[in-house]
Amino acid sequence: MSSSQRYNALKGVQDILPPDIYLWQRVESVARKIFANYGFQEIKAPIIESTTLFTRSIGETTDIVEKEMYTFPDKAGRSITLRPEGTAPVVRAYVEHHLHTLPPPQKFFYSGPMFRYERPQKGRFRQFYQIGVEAFGVATAELDGEVIAMLKVLLENLGLRELNFEVNSIGCEECRPSYRSSLQDFFSSRLDHLCPDCKRRYEFNPLRILDCKVERCIETRKGAPKVTDFLCGECRDHFEGVLSILRLLQIPHLVNPDMVRGLDYYTRTTFEVTTEHLGSQKAVAAGGRYDRLVEEFGGPFTPAIGFAIGMERLTALLKETGGTEVPSPQVFMASIGKRATQEGLLMAERFRAKGLWVEVGYEGSLRSQLRRADKLASHYVFIIGDDELSSGKMQWKNLRDGSQGEVEITQADEFVSSRLIP
Ligand code: HAM
Repeated sequence: MSSSQRYNALKGVQDILPPDIYLWQRVESVARKIFANYGFQEIKAPIIESTTLFTRSIGETTDIVEKEMYTFPDKAGRSITLRPEGTAPVVRAYVEHHLHTLPPPQKFFYSGPMFRYERPQKGRFRQFYQIGVEAFGVATAELDGEVIAMLKVLLENLGLRELNFEVNSIGCEECRPSYRSSLQDFFSSRLDHLCPDCKRRYEFNPLRILDCKVERCIETRKGAPKVTDFLCGECRDHFEGVLSILRLLQIPHLVNPDMVRGLDYYTRTTFEVTTEHLGSQKAVAAGGRYDRLVEEFGGPFTPAIGFAIGMERLTALLKETGGTEVPSPQVFMASIGKRATQEGLLMAERFRAKGLWVEVGYEGSLRSQLRRADKLASHYVFIIGDDELSSGKMQWKNLRDGSQGEVEITQADEFVSSRLIP
């Protein structure tokens, strides 16, 4: 016999098992409901894309592209990347399928795994799940406000209230050059204190120094110029507009001029929903405008905005604030003897066809079957033995209120219908 081998999940990835999975399902079903109310339709994009899709959009000098992508050649030698985020694939699909020819706004949501080769820690994984939305074709501040409002409604519907909504504007290609040179001025006398990556970023993209995770860079950038002081007139008006919509929609928020986000495609509005309950990984959800990305991918000028929620962080928060509701079987068929077990199996099939969750005992003593029924928190147990079969009756017990009795086997279907089907 060949020797056996045990396997563990890879570092930084995890299995989502019951009962936690019920929390995930609840998030997804609440999200689907809320997104539908705001007219967002589901889109499923592939998990693999050409590498350049991400290097171009997220940016060559970002941590994600420089350090975190799962990139490999496929068998034909093409460079493929496991998506580190969902926006670039959705924009690619939007352009590829000419969705810009449909009346704006076009609004989409997605959910699925993303991959970043990060140092794993609490709330930070190498495979993690996002639920995200992207809305295309409207440039006005009302859409920004509405998208942020939808995120707030979703989080509130899940029972989360004490979250911070942080917003900022990082300007556009008009305001960027003067901000960029003022950052270079600031860092020119501090270059020795920066990490090697940031020394390079200083040349090509000094904005990226502002979200470097290295401790000495965090220290060195204290006192750096704020992007909000460099906004052009139109960006300033847009930002003022967003803030007034947030007030109109009664979304308490905090302007955080230090928030630059770790992806290059953003223009104007950026936002993050943060919490103090998750240690150093504070952002539960994040997003912003990316008014130039559709063009960059070969489409017509199409302003756009979106966000993504980190599922691991969101479910960790929900677990902290409340329990997981675990569903349980409505009927448990306990049986003694071969004929009775088979009769129980037939009955279970009929009850399932009515839409009920039915478990069967299969084997073992009546005692052990009842123990299992109890452990599963079954609502009703039916007990059927060969003796009962010949008398045409079986016993039932309601484990929730302790009531019990007998029912004719021929009446069993009506019995469950009347008691368990609303
Ligand atoms: P992001 O800020 O990179 O933005 O990620 C969004 C959220 O995903 C984060 O706030 C966090 O909750 C979660 N997340 C990110 N990395 C990890 C990780 N390694 N482990 C666990 N959770 C993580 C984006 O991805 C943009 N595509 C969002 C967006 C959509 N912007 C516009 N539209």
